[in-house]
Amino acid sequence: MDFKNILLEQPEAGIYLLTVNRPKALNALNAATLDEIAAAIKKVAMDDGARVLLVTGAGEKAFVAGADIAEMQNATIEQAREFSEKGGRVMHALEALPVPVIALVNGFALGGGCELALACDWILAAPNAVFGQPEVNLGIPPGFGGTQRLPRRVGPARALEMLTTARQVKAEEAVAIGLANHMHPASELRAKGLDAARTIASRGPVAVRLVKQAVQRGGNLDLFAACALETDLFVQAFGTQDRKEGMTAFREKRAAKFRNR
Ligand code: CAA
Repeated sequence: MDFKNILLEQPEAGIYLLTVNRPKALNALNAATLDEIAAAIKKVAMDDGARVLLVTGAGEKAFVAGADIAEMQNATIEQAREFSEKGGRVMHALEALPVPVIALVNGFALGGGCELALACDWILAAPNAVFGQPEVNLGIPPGFGGTQRLPRRVGPARALEMLTTARQVKAEEAVAIGLANHMHPASELRAKGLDAARTIASRGPVAVRLVKQAVQRGGNLDLFAACALETDLFVQAFGTQDRKEGMTAFREKRAAKFRNR
């Protein structure tokens, strides 16, 4: 698939960088862009060598300023459902990628843009990052998972405040409330993302994937069932070559050579 609205690069082995690339519309998500993101996610998911996906927006002003309002303006009820379900599928697919996904939020992350960042495992923010769910200004609630993922990230009270008032949250506050993990100068954001990606890529790839599964699947279970899931995944790791290599390398006082097996 030739991409027109996104870029998918591999700056280093195992590290993918997806850039939403519609800077003239502040990288707003129209249906075509969602389709391209879905195709990019599929490509990363199918690559056994993938270790991390970084997601960002083109230009210096926006990560993604939301779903495309121009495209939504004249949508019928049926088209609205189709669009919300399409966006929902993309966010689920991103979240379900077996490897960690890090959002590099370099400006406005509003509406569908905030939802895209929330579907990533964690967020690094530039000082000009602005998070918000301004949909109530347009007479709609969020449609790509914002009412569900935002409260899970920052708690229901903070989420409801943002969702019902459309209050925008800047980078520093986003870090303070756990919406973003860290703030970095805009000029260093990509390098910091790559640093994190490199660190992850140096760890046991099977273990990293199992950790992501445990946190994500466990989050939907009660504590007892979630810890039982953790045990299952822990045991699963013991059947892998990487587990043997990791422990042998420790005992031999050398760096492990993991093979994702
Ligand atoms: N959809 C379509 N186009 C958008 C857009 C969006 N979400 N956000 C910005 N643009 C376009 C603008 O229309 C403008 O295009 P033109 O030059 O052709 O007029 C261009 O991007 C630049 O934007 P502005 O001139 O508005 O830039 P600004 O610096 O004055 O303001 C902004 C920046 C505050 C982000 C403002 O653009 C804005 O408020 N955007 C909309 C934010 C929003 O409401 N997002 C939620 C969308 S609904 C949604 O996402 C639903 C869902 O959950 C699925």
